[in-house]
Amino acid sequence: MSEILLANIGYLFTASGGPRRGAALAETTAAVGDALLVRDGLIAALGPHGQIERQATAGCEVLDCAGRLVTPGLVDSHTHLIYGGNRADEYEMRLRGAPYLEIFEAGGGIHSTVRQTQAAAEDDLLAAARRRAGVMVRHGVTTAEVKSGYGLTTNSELKILRVADRLHREGPLEIVPTFMGAHALPVEYGNRRADFINLVCEEMIPAVKAAGLARFADVFCDRGAFTLTETERVFAAARAAGLGLRVHADEFEALGATEMAAAAGAASADHLAVITGAGIRTLAASRTVATLLPGTTVFLGSPHFAPARGLIAAGAIVAIGSDHNPGSCHAASLRAVLTPAASFLKLRATEILHAITINAAYSLGLDGRVGSLEPGKEADIAIFDVATPAELLYEWGPVDAWATLKRGRLVHRAL
Ligand code: NIG
Ligand code: FE
Repeated sequence: MSEILLANIGYLFTASGGPRRGAALAETTAAVGDALLVRDGLIAALGPHGQIERQATAGCEVLDCAGRLVTPGLVDSHTHLIYGGNRADEYEMRLRGAPYLEIFEAGGGIHSTVRQTQAAAEDDLLAAARRRAGVMVRHGVTTAEVKSGYGLTTNSELKILRVADRLHREGPLEIVPTFMGAHALPVEYGNRRADFINLVCEEMIPAVKAAGLARFADVFCDRGAFTLTETERVFAAARAAGLGLRVHADEFEALGATEMAAAAGAASADHLAVITGAGIRTLAASRTVATLLPGTTVFLGSPHFAPARGLIAAGAIVAIGSDHNPGSCHAASLRAVLTPAASFLKLRATEILHAITINAAYSLGLDGRVGSLEPGKEADIAIFDVATPAELLYEWGPVDAWATLKRGRLVHRAL
Protein backbone atom coordinates (compact mmCIF):
# COMPACT_ATOMS: atom_id res chain seq x y z
CA MET A 1 0.00 0.00 0.00
CA SER A 2 1.30 3.50 -0.79
CA GLU A 3 0.07 6.62 0.96
CA ILE A 4 0.73 10.35 0.71
CA LEU A 5 -0.77 12.86 3.13
CA LEU A 6 -1.10 16.40 1.75
CA ALA A 7 -0.87 18.43 4.94
CA ASN A 8 -1.32 22.11 5.73
CA ILE A 9 -3.33 22.94 2.62
CA GLY A 10 -4.13 26.67 2.41
CA TYR A 11 -7.11 26.51 0.05
CA LEU A 12 -8.61 23.18 -1.00
CA PHE A 13 -10.55 23.69 -4.25
CA THR A 14 -12.44 20.41 -4.74
CA ALA A 15 -14.73 21.09 -7.77
CA SER A 16 -16.95 18.41 -6.25
CA GLY A 17 -20.56 17.72 -7.14
CA GLY A 18 -20.44 17.09 -10.89
CA PRO A 19 -20.39 19.42 -13.90
CA ARG A 20 -21.59 22.95 -13.22
CA ARG A 21 -23.83 25.43 -14.99
CA GLY A 22 -24.96 28.99 -14.27
CA ALA A 23 -24.39 30.49 -10.85
CA ALA A 24 -23.04 27.16 -9.53
CA LEU A 25 -19.94 27.66 -11.68
CA ALA A 26 -18.75 30.37 -9.31
CA GLU A 27 -19.75 28.70 -6.05
CA THR A 28 -16.94 27.30 -4.00
CA THR A 29 -17.68 24.28 -1.96
CA ALA A 30 -17.46 25.33 1.69
CA ALA A 31 -14.02 24.90 3.21
CA VAL A 32 -13.62 21.20 3.71
CA GLY A 33 -10.38 21.21 5.60
CA ASP A 34 -6.70 21.31 5.15
CA ALA A 35 -5.56 17.76 4.54
CA LEU A 36 -6.01 15.14 1.86
CA LEU A 37 -4.98 11.49 2.03
CA VAL A 38 -3.99 9.61 -1.11
CA ARG A 39 -3.93 5.81 -0.94
CA ASP A 40 -2.85 3.60 -3.84
CA GLY A 41 -3.41 6.33 -6.40
CA LEU A 42 -6.89 7.25 -5.23
CA ILE A 43 -8.23 9.97 -2.96
CA ALA A 44 -8.96 8.17 0.31
CA ALA A 45 -10.19 11.09 2.41
CA LEU A 46 -10.09 14.86 2.78
CA GLY A 47 -11.03 17.14 5.64
CA PRO A 48 -9.68 18.62 8.88
CA HIS A 49 -6.06 17.65 9.49
CA GLY A 50 -6.52 15.79 12.77
CA GLN A 51 -9.30 13.63 11.37
CA ILE A 52 -7.43 12.76 8.17
CA GLU A 53 -4.07 12.15 9.81
CA ARG A 54 -5.66 9.49 12.03
CA GLN A 55 -6.58 7.51 8.91
CA ALA A 56 -3.02 7.48 7.62
CA THR A 57 -0.89 4.46 8.42
CA ALA A 58 2.52 4.73 10.06
CA GLY A 59 5.24 5.56 7.55
CA CYS A 60 2.84 7.48 5.30
CA GLU A 61 4.73 10.04 3.20
CA VAL A 62 3.79 13.62 4.16
CA LEU A 63 3.82 16.52 1.69
CA ASP A 64 3.65 19.81 3.59
CA CYS A 65 1.72 22.19 1.32
CA ALA A 66 2.60 25.14 3.56
CA GLY A 67 -0.63 27.04 2.97
CA ARG A 68 -0.73 26.62 -0.81
CA LEU A 69 -3.71 26.26 -3.20
CA VAL A 70 -4.59 22.63 -4.02
CA THR A 71 -6.87 21.85 -6.99
CA PRO A 72 -7.78 18.87 -9.12
CA GLY A 73 -5.15 18.21 -11.80
CA LEU A 74 -6.05 20.51 -14.69
CA VAL A 75 -7.86 19.01 -17.68
CA ASP A 76 -7.09 20.55 -21.09
CA SER A 77 -10.02 19.43 -23.23
CA HIS A 78 -8.84 20.92 -26.57
CA THR A 79 -5.31 20.61 -27.95
CA HIS A 80 -3.58 19.88 -31.26
CA LEU A 81 -0.40 18.77 -29.50
CA ILE A 82 1.14 16.61 -32.22
CA TYR A 83 2.61 18.34 -35.28
CA GLY A 84 5.85 18.86 -37.14
CA GLY A 85 7.73 22.15 -37.44
CA ASN A 86 6.36 25.53 -36.48
CA ARG A 87 4.70 28.58 -38.06
CA ALA A 88 6.64 31.48 -36.57
CA ASP A 89 7.05 32.90 -40.10
CA GLU A 90 3.30 32.97 -40.54
CA TYR A 91 2.86 34.67 -37.19
CA GLU A 92 5.14 37.43 -38.49
CA MET A 93 3.07 37.66 -41.70
CA ARG A 94 -0.07 38.09 -39.64
CA LEU A 95 1.57 40.84 -37.60
CA ARG A 96 2.18 42.65 -40.88
CA GLY A 97 -1.53 42.41 -41.69
CA ALA A 98 -2.15 39.11 -43.52
CA PRO A 99 -5.40 37.56 -42.20
CA TYR A 100 -5.34 33.99 -40.81
CA LEU A 101 -8.00 32.69 -43.21
CA GLU A 102 -6.29 34.23 -46.26
CA ILE A 103 -2.99 32.55 -45.44
CA PHE A 104 -4.89 29.27 -44.98
CA GLU A 105 -6.81 29.59 -48.25
CA ALA A 106 -3.56 30.39 -50.09
CA GLY A 107 -2.13 27.01 -49.03
CA GLY A 108 -0.38 28.10 -45.82
CA GLY A 109 -1.78 27.89 -42.30
CA ILE A 110 -2.99 24.39 -41.46
CA HIS A 111 -1.66 23.21 -44.87
CA SER A 112 1.85 24.31 -43.93
CA THR A 113 1.75 22.24 -40.73
CA VAL A 114 0.28 19.31 -42.70
CA ARG A 115 3.32 19.33 -45.00
CA GLN A 116 5.72 19.51 -42.05
CA THR A 117 3.84 16.76 -40.18
CA GLN A 118 3.61 14.41 -43.16
CA ALA A 119 7.37 14.77 -43.66
CA ALA A 120 8.20 14.11 -39.99
CA ALA A 121 9.27 10.71 -38.70
CA GLU A 122 6.98 9.20 -36.09
CA ASP A 123 9.73 9.20 -33.46
CA ASP A 124 10.48 12.88 -34.08
CA LEU A 125 6.82 13.78 -33.69
CA LEU A 126 6.82 11.84 -30.43
CA ALA A 127 9.92 13.62 -29.15
CA ALA A 128 8.42 17.06 -29.89
CA ALA A 129 5.07 16.14 -28.35
CA ARG A 130 6.82 14.71 -25.28
CA ARG A 131 8.52 18.07 -24.68
CA ARG A 132 5.19 19.90 -24.94
CA ALA A 133 3.50 17.38 -22.65
CA GLY A 134 6.30 17.84 -20.12
CA VAL A 135 5.61 21.57 -19.98
CA MET A 136 1.91 20.90 -19.48
CA VAL A 137 2.54 18.57 -16.57
CA ARG A 138 4.87 21.12 -14.96
CA HIS A 139 2.04 23.63 -15.24
CA GLY A 140 -0.39 21.33 -13.38
CA VAL A 141 -2.16 19.63 -16.31
CA THR A 142 -2.77 15.90 -15.75
CA THR A 143 -5.18 15.06 -18.60
CA ALA A 144 -5.29 16.42 -22.15
CA GLU A 145 -7.41 15.80 -25.19
CA VAL A 146 -5.19 15.58 -28.31
CA LYS A 147 -6.49 15.85 -31.87
CA SER A 148 -5.02 14.50 -35.07
CA GLY A 149 -5.69 16.59 -38.18
CA TYR A 150 -2.27 17.57 -39.49
CA GLY A 151 -1.93 14.33 -41.49
CA LEU A 152 -4.94 14.40 -43.82
CA THR A 153 -3.99 11.08 -45.42
CA THR A 154 -5.03 7.83 -43.81
CA ASN A 155 -1.43 6.88 -43.03
CA SER A 156 -0.44 10.27 -41.66
CA GLU A 157 -3.56 10.54 -39.50
CA LEU A 158 -2.82 7.07 -38.10
CA LYS A 159 0.80 8.13 -37.52
CA ILE A 160 -0.35 11.06 -35.37
CA LEU A 161 -2.80 8.92 -33.42
CA ARG A 162 -0.08 6.31 -32.81
CA VAL A 163 2.10 9.07 -31.39
CA ALA A 164 -0.79 10.11 -29.10
CA ASP A 165 -1.12 6.51 -27.96
CA ARG A 166 2.61 6.11 -27.30
CA LEU A 167 2.72 9.40 -25.38
CA HIS A 168 -0.25 8.28 -23.29
CA ARG A 169 1.37 4.93 -22.51
CA GLU A 170 4.63 6.64 -21.52
CA GLY A 171 2.78 8.93 -19.13
CA PRO A 172 2.43 10.79 -16.92
CA LEU A 173 0.09 12.95 -19.03
CA GLU A 174 -3.16 11.08 -19.67
CA ILE A 175 -4.23 11.58 -23.27
CA VAL A 176 -7.71 11.37 -24.75
CA PRO A 177 -7.31 10.94 -28.52
CA THR A 178 -9.58 12.62 -31.08
CA PHE A 179 -9.56 11.88 -34.81
CA MET A 180 -9.77 15.13 -36.79
CA GLY A 181 -9.25 14.08 -40.40
CA ALA A 182 -11.80 16.76 -41.36
CA HIS A 183 -9.51 19.60 -40.28
CA ALA A 184 -8.89 21.05 -43.76
CA LEU A 185 -9.49 20.07 -47.37
CA PRO A 186 -6.02 18.99 -48.57
CA VAL A 187 -4.64 21.31 -51.28
CA GLU A 188 -4.30 18.43 -53.76
CA TYR A 189 -8.07 17.82 -53.63
CA GLY A 190 -8.76 21.19 -55.30
CA ASN A 191 -12.55 21.28 -55.59
CA ARG A 192 -13.06 17.57 -55.05
CA ARG A 193 -14.68 18.11 -51.68
CA ALA A 194 -16.95 15.05 -51.80
CA ASP A 195 -13.99 12.80 -52.60
CA PHE A 196 -12.18 13.90 -49.45
CA ILE A 197 -15.27 13.55 -47.25
CA ASN A 198 -15.71 10.04 -48.69
CA LEU A 199 -12.10 9.28 -47.79
CA VAL A 200 -12.63 10.51 -44.22
CA CYS A 201 -15.87 8.56 -43.79
CA GLU A 202 -15.15 5.39 -45.73
CA GLU A 203 -11.43 4.87 -45.21
CA MET A 204 -10.02 6.96 -42.37
CA ILE A 205 -12.75 6.43 -39.77
CA PRO A 206 -12.90 2.65 -40.30
CA ALA A 207 -9.07 2.49 -40.11
CA VAL A 208 -9.00 4.55 -36.90
CA LYS A 209 -11.73 2.38 -35.44
CA ALA A 210 -9.97 -0.85 -36.39
CA ALA A 211 -6.77 0.41 -34.74
CA GLY A 212 -8.71 1.54 -31.65
CA LEU A 213 -6.81 4.82 -31.67
CA ALA A 214 -9.50 7.47 -31.04
CA ARG A 215 -12.31 8.10 -28.61
CA PHE A 216 -13.80 11.16 -30.37
CA ALA A 217 -14.07 12.66 -33.84
CA ASP A 218 -13.91 16.41 -34.48
CA VAL A 219 -14.68 18.54 -37.56
CA PHE A 220 -13.62 22.12 -38.36
CA CYS A 221 -17.00 23.47 -39.52
CA ASP A 222 -16.38 27.04 -40.62
CA ARG A 223 -15.74 29.37 -43.50
CA GLY A 224 -12.76 28.05 -45.48
CA ALA A 225 -13.00 24.62 -43.82
CA PHE A 226 -16.04 22.29 -43.97
CA THR A 227 -19.74 22.98 -44.49
CA LEU A 228 -22.57 21.98 -42.18
CA THR A 229 -23.66 19.21 -44.56
CA GLU A 230 -20.11 17.81 -44.75
CA THR A 231 -19.86 17.95 -40.96
CA GLU A 232 -23.12 16.02 -40.63
CA ARG A 233 -21.77 13.29 -42.92
CA VAL A 234 -18.59 12.92 -40.87
CA PHE A 235 -20.62 12.89 -37.65
CA ALA A 236 -22.82 10.08 -38.99
CA ALA A 237 -19.79 7.96 -39.92
CA ALA A 238 -18.05 8.72 -36.62
CA ARG A 239 -21.11 7.86 -34.60
CA ALA A 240 -21.55 4.60 -36.51
CA ALA A 241 -17.93 3.77 -35.58
CA GLY A 242 -18.69 4.37 -31.91
CA LEU A 243 -16.78 7.64 -31.62
CA GLY A 244 -17.99 10.56 -29.48
CA LEU A 245 -18.45 13.88 -31.30
CA ARG A 246 -16.77 17.28 -30.94
CA VAL A 247 -16.83 20.25 -33.30
CA HIS A 248 -14.89 23.43 -34.06
CA ALA A 249 -17.86 25.77 -34.42
CA ASP A 250 -18.56 29.48 -34.84
CA GLU A 251 -14.89 30.52 -34.77
CA PHE A 252 -15.13 32.81 -37.82
CA GLU A 253 -18.70 32.37 -39.07
CA ALA A 254 -21.81 30.83 -37.49
CA LEU A 255 -22.79 28.07 -39.92
CA GLY A 256 -25.21 26.27 -37.60
CA ALA A 257 -22.64 23.74 -36.38
CA THR A 258 -23.30 24.45 -32.70
CA GLU A 259 -27.01 23.79 -33.03
CA MET A 260 -26.41 20.68 -35.16
CA ALA A 261 -23.82 19.34 -32.69
CA ALA A 262 -26.13 19.83 -29.71
CA ALA A 263 -28.95 18.05 -31.56
CA ALA A 264 -26.53 15.21 -32.40
CA GLY A 265 -25.58 14.84 -28.73
CA ALA A 266 -22.00 15.98 -29.28
CA ALA A 267 -19.79 16.07 -26.20
CA SER A 268 -18.49 19.55 -26.97
CA ALA A 269 -18.79 22.56 -29.30
CA ASP A 270 -15.57 24.57 -29.26
CA HIS A 271 -14.44 28.15 -30.03
CA LEU A 272 -17.92 29.83 -30.25
CA ALA A 273 -16.35 33.26 -30.81
CA VAL A 274 -19.26 34.36 -33.02
CA ILE A 275 -22.01 32.09 -31.64
CA THR A 276 -25.55 33.44 -32.17
CA GLY A 277 -28.25 33.93 -29.53
CA ALA A 278 -29.99 30.83 -30.88
CA GLY A 279 -26.75 28.88 -30.52
CA ILE A 280 -26.39 29.97 -26.91
CA ARG A 281 -29.96 28.92 -26.10
CA THR A 282 -29.48 25.55 -27.79
CA LEU A 283 -26.31 24.79 -25.85
CA ALA A 284 -27.89 25.90 -22.58
CA ALA A 285 -30.72 23.41 -23.10
CA SER A 286 -28.28 20.57 -23.90
CA ARG A 287 -25.51 18.51 -22.35
CA THR A 288 -23.04 19.63 -25.03
CA VAL A 289 -20.23 21.52 -23.33
CA ALA A 290 -19.35 25.02 -24.58
CA THR A 291 -15.55 24.86 -24.74
CA LEU A 292 -14.04 28.33 -24.91
CA LEU A 293 -10.53 29.00 -26.22
CA PRO A 294 -9.64 32.58 -25.29
CA GLY A 295 -5.93 32.02 -25.97
CA THR A 296 -6.76 31.66 -29.67
CA THR A 297 -8.64 34.95 -29.81
CA VAL A 298 -5.68 36.69 -28.14
CA PHE A 299 -3.09 34.98 -30.37
CA LEU A 300 -5.06 35.86 -33.52
CA GLY A 301 -5.42 39.44 -32.30
CA SER A 302 -9.15 39.14 -32.90
CA PRO A 303 -11.74 41.30 -31.12
CA HIS A 304 -14.30 38.46 -31.12
CA PHE A 305 -14.16 36.80 -27.72
CA ALA A 306 -16.76 34.11 -27.05
CA PRO A 307 -19.70 35.49 -25.03
CA ALA A 308 -18.77 33.60 -21.89
CA ARG A 309 -20.99 35.62 -19.57
CA GLY A 310 -23.98 35.12 -21.88
CA LEU A 311 -23.34 31.37 -22.06
CA ILE A 312 -23.11 31.11 -18.28
CA ALA A 313 -26.19 33.28 -17.72
CA ALA A 314 -28.16 31.10 -20.14
CA GLY A 315 -27.03 27.97 -18.26
CA ALA A 316 -24.57 26.26 -20.63
CA ILE A 317 -21.85 23.96 -19.26
CA VAL A 318 -18.71 26.01 -19.91
CA ALA A 319 -15.18 24.60 -20.16
CA ILE A 320 -11.92 26.30 -21.18
CA GLY A 321 -9.15 24.73 -23.23
CA SER A 322 -5.73 25.88 -24.41
CA ASP A 323 -6.21 25.01 -28.13
CA HIS A 324 -2.43 24.48 -28.17
CA ASN A 325 -1.56 24.38 -31.88
CA PRO A 326 1.22 25.79 -34.09
CA GLY A 327 -0.94 28.33 -35.92
CA SER A 328 -3.77 30.04 -34.07
CA CYS A 329 -2.63 29.54 -30.47
CA HIS A 330 0.92 28.51 -29.71
CA ALA A 331 0.26 28.56 -25.95
CA ALA A 332 2.60 26.63 -23.69
CA SER A 333 -0.32 25.18 -21.76
CA LEU A 334 -3.72 25.80 -20.26
CA ARG A 335 -1.97 27.69 -17.45
CA ALA A 336 -1.03 30.43 -19.96
CA VAL A 337 -4.63 31.18 -20.97
CA LEU A 338 -6.14 31.56 -17.51
CA THR A 339 -5.43 35.27 -17.09
CA PRO A 340 -6.70 36.06 -20.63
CA ALA A 341 -9.83 34.06 -19.74
CA ALA A 342 -10.34 36.28 -16.72
CA SER A 343 -9.51 39.60 -18.36
CA PHE A 344 -11.30 39.12 -21.69
CA LEU A 345 -14.11 36.65 -20.91
CA LYS A 346 -14.74 38.37 -17.56
CA LEU A 347 -14.75 35.09 -15.68
CA ARG A 348 -14.07 34.82 -11.98
CA ALA A 349 -11.34 32.60 -10.60
CA THR A 350 -13.70 29.94 -9.25
CA GLU A 351 -15.58 29.85 -12.56
CA ILE A 352 -12.34 29.33 -14.44
CA LEU A 353 -11.18 26.60 -12.07
CA HIS A 354 -14.43 24.65 -12.53
CA ALA A 355 -14.16 25.20 -16.30
CA ILE A 356 -10.67 23.61 -16.44
CA THR A 357 -11.35 20.74 -14.04
CA ILE A 358 -14.76 19.10 -13.62
CA ASN A 359 -16.47 20.67 -16.66
CA ALA A 360 -13.56 19.86 -18.96
CA ALA A 361 -13.44 16.30 -17.58
CA TYR A 362 -17.18 15.99 -18.24
CA SER A 363 -16.70 17.01 -21.87
CA LEU A 364 -14.21 14.13 -22.22
CA GLY A 365 -16.49 11.64 -20.46
CA LEU A 366 -13.99 11.30 -17.61
CA ASP A 367 -15.85 13.11 -14.82
CA GLY A 368 -16.49 9.85 -12.97
CA ARG A 369 -12.75 9.37 -12.52
CA VAL A 370 -10.93 12.74 -12.66
CA GLY A 371 -11.70 16.48 -12.53
CA SER A 372 -12.57 16.83 -8.85
CA LEU A 373 -11.13 15.98 -5.45
CA GLU A 374 -13.57 13.52 -3.91
CA PRO A 375 -13.00 10.22 -2.10
CA GLY A 376 -12.72 7.35 -4.55
CA LYS A 377 -11.55 9.48 -7.45
CA GLU A 378 -8.06 9.24 -8.92
CA ALA A 379 -5.52 11.38 -7.10
CA ASP A 380 -4.79 13.78 -9.99
CA ILE A 381 -3.79 16.92 -8.11
CA ALA A 382 -2.14 20.28 -8.80
CA ILE A 383 -0.54 22.34 -6.04
CA PHE A 384 0.18 25.98 -6.88
CA ASP A 385 2.55 28.34 -5.13
CA VAL A 386 -0.24 30.79 -4.31
CA ALA A 387 -2.82 30.93 -1.53
CA THR A 388 -6.12 31.43 -3.39
CA PRO A 389 -7.77 30.95 -6.83
CA ALA A 390 -7.71 34.73 -7.34
CA GLU A 391 -3.94 34.78 -6.81
CA LEU A 392 -3.53 32.04 -9.42
CA LEU A 393 -5.06 34.27 -12.13
CA TYR A 394 -3.31 37.36 -10.83
CA GLU A 395 0.01 35.62 -11.47
CA TRP A 396 -0.11 35.95 -15.26
CA GLY A 397 2.02 33.58 -17.20
CA PRO A 398 2.83 29.97 -17.80
CA VAL A 399 4.22 29.56 -14.31
CA ASP A 400 5.16 26.10 -13.06
CA ALA A 401 2.92 24.53 -10.48
CA TRP A 402 4.62 23.79 -7.16
CA ALA A 403 3.77 20.12 -7.56
CA THR A 404 1.70 17.86 -9.81
CA LEU A 405 0.43 14.39 -8.87
CA LYS A 406 -0.94 11.87 -11.38
CA ARG A 407 -2.79 8.90 -9.83
CA GLY A 408 -1.12 9.70 -6.54
CA ARG A 409 2.41 9.79 -7.95
CA LEU A 410 4.44 12.97 -7.70
CA VAL A 411 5.23 13.68 -11.36
CA HIS A 412 6.48 17.24 -10.96
CA ARG A 413 7.94 19.06 -8.01
CA ALA A 414 9.34 22.60 -8.07
CA LEU A 415 12.98 22.87 -7.05
O1 NIG B 1 -8.51 25.16 -33.22
N1 NIG B 1 -9.62 26.14 -36.06
C1 NIG B 1 -9.01 25.15 -36.49
N2 NIG B 1 -8.00 24.49 -35.98
C2 NIG B 1 -7.09 25.03 -35.05
C3 NIG B 1 -6.02 25.84 -35.67
C4 NIG B 1 -5.15 25.05 -36.50
C5 NIG B 1 -3.98 25.77 -37.10
O2 NIG B 1 -4.00 26.97 -37.41
O3 NIG B 1 -2.99 25.05 -37.27
C6 NIG B 1 -7.81 25.79 -33.97
O4 NIG B 1 -7.69 27.00 -33.85
FE1 FE C 1 -8.65 23.65 -32.27
